[in-house]
Amino acid sequence: MRPQNFHDYRALARRKLPKGLFEYIDRGTENEIAIRALRESLDAIKITPCALTGHGARDFSTTLFGKRHALPLIIAPTALAGLVSHDGETKLARAAATAGIPFCVSTQSITAVEDIRAGAPGADIWFQLYMWRDRALTRSLLDRVWASGVTTLVVTADTPTGPNREYNARNGFGMPMKPSIRVGLDMALHPGWLFGVILAYMRTTGMPTYGHYPAEHRVAITGAPSGEAVQLEHRLNWDDLVALRREWRGEIVIKGLLSVADALKAANLGADSVVVSTHGGRNLDSAPTTARILPDIAEAVGEKVTVLADSGVQRGSDVLKYIGLGAKAVLAGRLPLWGLAAGGEAGADAILAMLKREMDLTMTMLGLERPSEVAPHIVR
Ligand SMILES: Cc1cc2nc3c(=O)[nH]c(=O)nc-3n(C[C@H](O)[C@H](O)[C@H](O)COP(=O)(O)O)c2cc1C
Repeated sequence: MRPQNFHDYRALARRKLPKGLFEYIDRGTENEIAIRALRESLDAIKITPCALTGHGARDFSTTLFGKRHALPLIIAPTALAGLVSHDGETKLARAAATAGIPFCVSTQSITAVEDIRAGAPGADIWFQLYMWRDRALTRSLLDRVWASGVTTLVVTADTPTGPNREYNARNGFGMPMKPSIRVGLDMALHPGWLFGVILAYMRTTGMPTYGHYPAEHRVAITGAPSGEAVQLEHRLNWDDLVALRREWRGEIVIKGLLSVADALKAANLGADSVVVSTHGGRNLDSAPTTARILPDIAEAVGEKVTVLADSGVQRGSDVLKYIGLGAKAVLAGRLPLWGLAAGGEAGADAILAMLKREMDLTMTMLGLERPSEVAPHIVR
């Protein structure tokens, strides 16, 4: 049967992907408190409808950094999206272009930004930076990113180290992927994925690897660790933002802030935007929810920076709730990946179209014309 909602797509993805990869995408960290809290926080938000205020059509268009988009949505950066489907990142970029929204490439994508750009010429592509310990290497990566035509840089602030995801270790899922009977069996039980993704790479570009990593650090997913220079920089600090602000000529978005003080600091140091985010409940298990912190940050920074939000979006109403709490637009991470897993580019197209339909239905029920009108109707 045709998938009807997020849960159906997720169920299809669970069938198609090896368990290690499915759980890497799906699950949280430690006791998975953050991921449960996200769902509860969104479910607890109620919006009061305006009766008898029908409109002919809703208007979802949103301007971000001077560019007009069809929806207040962005495909979030997700590492290894290229393992979900062959050329997964390029497919997501094309799906974003079809939906009229930006696509953010992860530093840890399989396909490099230049190739994604070539494969999705119409897409508005942003780039997410995980600062590497070697600053010179990071700088040369950013030169490549700029040369590829990207102007929006998303600096992730909430991942100073690899999070504690015990299920990955149990599943044998990691970078590098260690060959084991468990991993082999997991792959063998998902031949569609093995042939459609891994063998498709091996026939064309070779064993998949992190596409942005310098050649000397770039190893196949089954290879040896890629060295100190390109590890996550756990000493990342505000001086790095000041330096980036000096060097990057486009917009800077700081992703993963959860306090008013940090959002104000980012604004004062010249960031153009902040993303209020718990990384989808994947990093700090005791993090407060986006919904709890977002209104305070939005109020404190006002018009100084563009406030974006993410984490836990499964329905169109979730997007509208974050917008009602003060976000200008919302990022979705797992949702497009489930579409991609279920049906490649067409699946990503379909799940984004579904999200738009749900947003439209909710807005019609609410009697509102634009997402920016939701705020006063959130029940406080
Ligand atoms: C599989 C996966 C990989 C991710 N990789 C990155 C990444 O490389 N960089 C980053 O800043 N955020 C990453 N994130 C976090 C997302 O950008 C986003 O904040 C999060 O997925 C939002 O929550 P949602 O998945 O519930 O929509 C990842 C998320 C997932 C699910």
